[in-house]
Amino acid sequence: MLNFAILGAGSIARVMATTINKMNSSGNNIVKLAAVASRSLDKSKLFASEFNIEKAYGSYDELYNDPSIDLVYIATPHNFHYEQCKSCLQHKKNVLCEKPFTVNVKQAKELLDMAAEKKLFITEGIWTRYQPMRRIIDDEIKSGIIGHPMMVTANLGYNMTRKERLLKPELAGGALLDVGIYALNFANMILGDPDEVDSSCIKNASGVDMSNSVTFTYKDTAKMAVLCSSALCVSDRFGMIHGSEGFIMVENINNPQSLKVFDKAYNLIKEIKAPEQLTGFEYEVEESAKAIKIGEIQCSSMPHEKILYMMNLMDSIRAQMGIKYPFE
Ligand SMILES: NC(=O)c1ccc[n+]([C@@H]2O[C@H](COP(=O)([O-])OP(=O)(O)OC[C@H]3O[C@@H](n4cnc5c(N)ncnc54)[C@H](OP(=O)(O)O)[C@@H]3O)[C@@H](O)[C@H]2O)c1
Repeated sequence: MLNFAILGAGSIARVMATTINKMNSSGNNIVKLAAVASRSLDKSKLFASEFNIEKAYGSYDELYNDPSIDLVYIATPHNFHYEQCKSCLQHKKNVLCEKPFTVNVKQAKELLDMAAEKKLFITEGIWTRYQPMRRIIDDEIKSGIIGHPMMVTANLGYNMTRKERLLKPELAGGALLDVGIYALNFANMILGDPDEVDSSCIKNASGVDMSNSVTFTYKDTAKMAVLCSSALCVSDRFGMIHGSEGFIMVENINNPQSLKVFDKAYNLIKEIKAPEQLTGFEYEVEESAKAIKIGEIQCSSMPHEKILYMMNLMDSIRAQMGIKYPFE
């Protein structure tokens, strides 16, 4: 049983704590909730009592200095990931860091190099890469049921106009790094790395993207992906895979719940539901814990090379959109 700790007692931390409690109650004891750390001891104690966590720390430093912790889950706004992952590695802790892994590729490379040098495990918790629906979607495409997949369209948007971390450049705000990342990963998992990328966006008064569109082109194979994300509106969250003989509709690219296959006459010919989930976060926890147990420093579902690729991709999209964070 690995000792799992949560750094930052915010909203996604609650989902992770629920996940681990559910894993344990269903008999999966690969990790146990050993500690939570918050900048506020009161908040940390409240969180620990709600989720039945052994230790509640009122500072992140106390967590870094606890030698019993095997794996730290970083659950803070994007701009803090780099420093907090670095501190974990410096204190010999393995790390599962929320998406986006860091703010840019430079930070990501430094962390991955440090993990390799120290032989510690680190990964990005982009949950859709670890979920079984990824393989199910792949298998459907490989079966040839829609012919050749030629065009992917996907979107993800929520009204997040009241979420501080989305709006502020100093918190690495914007739709791209927060929700656009799911559309980019969706297309990348299906079509691979594009030859060209074009993008545009609408910015808020502070200069971060509130809505954006990104187009991938694959020159040799004539494939395309058209992706959009927004912090201003509720989107249908569909991911569509258009093929030469039909198409696949994936419901909710931010945690796929089902896929529907249609033929070229628009008849629904197949529907597959996602396997029942605890919360959808159990897969990344399980894969991380298994990797640590066998001495791996990365997960096969999101190898370090792919983390770097995706961070570099988002850097280049931000460069096209003219978005630079104040600390860059
Ligand atoms: N995988 C998913 O589906 C998913 C969903 C939502 C979010 N996320 C990711 O999870 C991360 C956290 O998101 P969230 O919605 O949970 O964030 P949040 O609730 O706004 O903040 C999480 C915690 O970070 C610390 N924090 C927040 N604002 C801070 C500030 N201005 N200065 C210093 N510390 C601050 C706080 O920890 P303490 O006060 O406890 O110290 C807070 O409780 C983000 O990177 C996001 O992309 C992932």
